[in-house]
Amino acid sequence: MANTGSSESTYDRNAEFQAFEDTRAGVKGLVDSGLTKIPRMFHSEELNHTESSENYSNLTIPIVDLAGIHNDSSLHTEAVAKIGSACQNWGFFQVINHGIPNDVFDEVIDGIRRFHEQDSKIRKQFYARDLNKKVRYYSNVHMHKDRPANWRDTLFVAPDAAKADDIPAVCREIVIEYSKKIRELGNTIFELMSEALGLNPSYLKELACGEGLFLLCHYYFPQCPEPESTMGVTKHTDSDFMTILLQDQIGGLQVLHENQWVDVPPVHGALVVNIGDLLQLITNDRFISVFHRVLARPIGPRISIASFFINLDDIAENTAKVYGPIKELLSEENPPIYKGTTIKDFWANNISRGLDGNSL
Ligand code: OGA
Ligand code: NI
Repeated sequence: MANTGSSESTYDRNAEFQAFEDTRAGVKGLVDSGLTKIPRMFHSEELNHTESSENYSNLTIPIVDLAGIHNDSSLHTEAVAKIGSACQNWGFFQVINHGIPNDVFDEVIDGIRRFHEQDSKIRKQFYARDLNKKVRYYSNVHMHKDRPANWRDTLFVAPDAAKADDIPAVCREIVIEYSKKIRELGNTIFELMSEALGLNPSYLKELACGEGLFLLCHYYFPQCPEPESTMGVTKHTDSDFMTILLQDQIGGLQVLHENQWVDVPPVHGALVVNIGDLLQLITNDRFISVFHRVLARPIGPRISIASFFINLDDIAENTAKVYGPIKELLSEENPPIYKGTTIKDFWANNISRGLDGNSL
């Protein structure tokens, strides 16, 4: 590995991290300061070994058309089949004709851009590491453990738990409107997924998969002096039930499919849906939670909003809810692969490991 040797022994990652934290200005602050080299903690000597070994593929993830699913039974059946096969084979798909107007997407992306680009004095007021805060701004959720740190900043919003006044004024109204629409769409998709599993349409809803939601509103920087050395997001899986992602037109998201990195091309008006680890667990591997990443590239800024379906209360406290493989999906030939777990225990394991590139 390059870069080992005398500099290794004098490098103090904690001190570098603390200095970065003290600015409360995120990667944006670094970029605005006009740096020419990226700090070491964002640097990955391992990138070339672990990230680029897989091939690239020309395949694209499936697109599911939701037009007419509520009043045309053959379109409904078709959408269920398409979602079922996408969840089993890819763990990722895009949805179109979902009923959310493009204006809402354009406005929410603009709102998030305004947040990250506003006067740093206002932005800094939201900077926080306290996981109990329902609205917070930070760079890299597990900064001390991520290797390497990711070249992006994030605004976290839990729209149900937060008081409206806590949401930054520059994007408040549109974030609330967007969340409401995403929650509705999420419930529709959980219904279609339940049917694809051969279950009652309300099955996943009754398990409370769609009950909680939080948004990660990311801002990726084109100004990276060493783009080949860092990542927008390192390879990971999502630890929720399902994620619905809105991305702008810049691109860079890739999904690992049959050991090849597949681009997820931006489609205006489409949303990207992916299965999280918890849905893989309760479907006993019928639906798969797959690795994905975002490249750091010299174009942008890139803005994306990832809506995570998971109940924050279940993460914070040990509730009575234990999630294990759904009984109806089990048989003698298909015995349970996983034990039941509370979401708190599941996430405790997640947080202690950081984004280490392994699926839960
Ligand atoms: C995530 C994620 C992808 C993106 O937030 O978990 O994978 O395009 N985001 O921002
Ligand atoms: Ni993700």
